[in-house]
Amino acid sequence: MPISTENSKRTTAALDVSLSGVRFEHVLVVGAGQMGGGIAQVVAASGRRVSLHDAAPGAVDRGVETMRKSLAKLAEKGGSQPDEVLARVQPVDELVPADLMVEAVVESNTSSIPISSLAAVTERPDRVIGMHFFNPVPVLKLVEVVRGRETSDETAEAITELARELGKTPAVANDFPGFVSNRILMPYINEAVYALQDGVAEVESIDTIAKLGFAHPMGPLALADLIGLDTCVAIMKVLQKGLGDDKYAPAPLLETYVEQGKLGRKSKEGFYIY
Ligand code: 3HC
Repeated sequence: MPISTENSKRTTAALDVSLSGVRFEHVLVVGAGQMGGGIAQVVAASGRRVSLHDAAPGAVDRGVETMRKSLAKLAEKGGSQPDEVLARVQPVDELVPADLMVEAVVESNTSSIPISSLAAVTERPDRVIGMHFFNPVPVLKLVEVVRGRETSDETAEAITELARELGKTPAVANDFPGFVSNRILMPYINEAVYALQDGVAEVESIDTIAKLGFAHPMGPLALADLIGLDTCVAIMKVLQKGLGDDKYAPAPLLETYVEQGKLGRKSKEGFYIY
């Protein structure tokens, strides 16, 4: 969720004069996990200056290391040199004034929480919008742009343009729990977990069927491991509560994995062992 930072009246005033002319030269990214780090990387790769903040000790260093590996892969294919991009990423210990702030805390990148609820606690709800990136951020081309009830046209246009400048394709959705992406994706993943739980097939078969049968790059259980099983549970609960329908309740087996600390790739074990 990007929001222009609260703590600089000067920055606010500048934005008030001309939001549409701003190219967001300096972006503050809050959260250096797999989403925040990926967002910082693509913003820096576009030539912008990035301040990267994370409250968890060591998180920014880990985020920068992940960026370095990703940039090295991209450099092999003609992308910018990792050092050149990373020179534009400045770790910061606190929230600093910037043209734009992107919140990507606890690797959720506002993937399902209503934008209007988040905007309501700010003094400038017209400047708050959902900017939903997809993991791995440097590779996947979509940004789901989510308008809150009070998001202005100017904000929506500026963020849509920014998404394009980052090399992404923006697609606009309205502010419903899970937006479009997670309303479709998470029940699909959840149903795959039910198929496993009910003994319809083993993990590998379920993923092979989806990969080859639907031409998806990875099966739903491998994808759940990539996203994080805790994140999947959290998003299902937001859908269940927000849409008021128990059909979105997380599959019991999914919750069991999370209770056992099997969170997917990040804990080295989920439906697969890494
Ligand atoms: N940075 C840079 N390059 C990367 C990368 C990264 N982080 N990850 C993969 N790549 C590159 C690889 O180097 C490789 O390049 P090459 O083709 O030149 O060799 C290419 O991408 C393909 O990677 P792999 O060969 O390792 O494996 P795959 O072909 O399976 O691709 C994948 C990996 C890109 C992850 C692909 O499987 C994929 O797109 N999977 C689906 C991911 C998806 O659905 N994400 C959405 C999750 S939902 C979400 O994020 C929303 C949230 O709210 C939950």
